[in-house]
Amino acid sequence: MKKTTQLYEGKAKKVFLTDESNLVIQEFKDDATAFNNKKKGTIADKGVVNNAISCKLFTLLESEGIHTHLVEKLSDRDMLCRHLDIIKVEVVVRNIAAGSLVKRYGFAEGTVLAKPIVELYLKDDDLDDPLMNESHAVALGIATLEELEVLKNRAEAINAVLKKFFADRKLKLVDFKLEFGRHNGEILLGDEISPDTCRLWDLETNEKLDKDRFRFDLGGVEDAYSEVQRRVLELD
Ligand code: TMP
Ligand code: ASP
Repeated sequence: MKKTTQLYEGKAKKVFLTDESNLVIQEFKDDATAFNNKKKGTIADKGVVNNAISCKLFTLLESEGIHTHLVEKLSDRDMLCRHLDIIKVEVVVRNIAAGSLVKRYGFAEGTVLAKPIVELYLKDDDLDDPLMNESHAVALGIATLEELEVLKNRAEAINAVLKKFFADRKLKLVDFKLEFGRHNGEILLGDEISPDTCRLWDLETNEKLDKDRFRFDLGGVEDAYSEVQRRVLELD
C-alpha cells in the first residue's frame, strides 16, 4: 500500500490517502506539543514507539470485540487505517485524579475515583478544546445523542480492557483520551493510544511514565516511553 496525497498534518501525526479510497496511512512523528501547542519539542523515536504501542493496543481491543480503524502495522512509523469521518469530540476517561481534573475541581492528585469519569471535549484547537456536555455537541451538530451514547459506552468498555492489560504490566491507567469516527455506517475507534494520550504510573512507585514528563520538564522522557513500550510488548 502506497501513500498518495497528504490529507492532513497534525501535531503528532501525518495522514495520507492511499490508492485504496477507504484506507489511509497514519504516520507517527517525533514532534511533541503540550498545552495546545504552547510548548513544542521532539521526543527521540516517539513516533516509532507510539505506533508500536497503538498497534498492539488496537489489536488487543479488536480481540475483545471493540472495532478500531487499524488494518495493519505497515512499518516502524506507518499504520494502515480505515478512513474515518472523524467525530469532533475527544472522549476522556479518568480512573485516578490528575491533570485538568485536579485543576478544575480541586481533587488531590492521585485520588482513586469511586467510578470512572467520562468527559467530552470539543476537538477544536482554535477554541482550546473546551469541556462540553451532550447538549453542546448536539447543538453544534457534531454528533447525535445516540452516537454520543455509543461513544461513552465504548469508552467505558475500552477502559475496562486497558485497565486490566496495564495492571498486568504493573502500570496504573490514570486517564486517557479517545477519538472516534464514522466508517460505512459504523463507529470505529480512531487516532492512537500511547503515552501521548494516556497517563500511566508505575503500579508500585507511582512514577509518571507518560507525556507529563515532557509537559512538566521532569526529564527521562524517552526512557519513560520506551519502558511503556517494553511492558506493553513484553508478553508477546
Ligand atoms: P487532561 O487532564 O489534561 O484533561 O488530560 C486527560 C487525558 O487526556 C490525559 O491522559 C492526556 C490526554 N490528552 C490528550 O491526549 N490530548 C489533549 O489534547 C489533552 C488536553 C489531553
Ligand atoms: N496534545 C495537546 C497539545 O498539543 C495537549 C497535551 O497533550 O497536553 O498541545
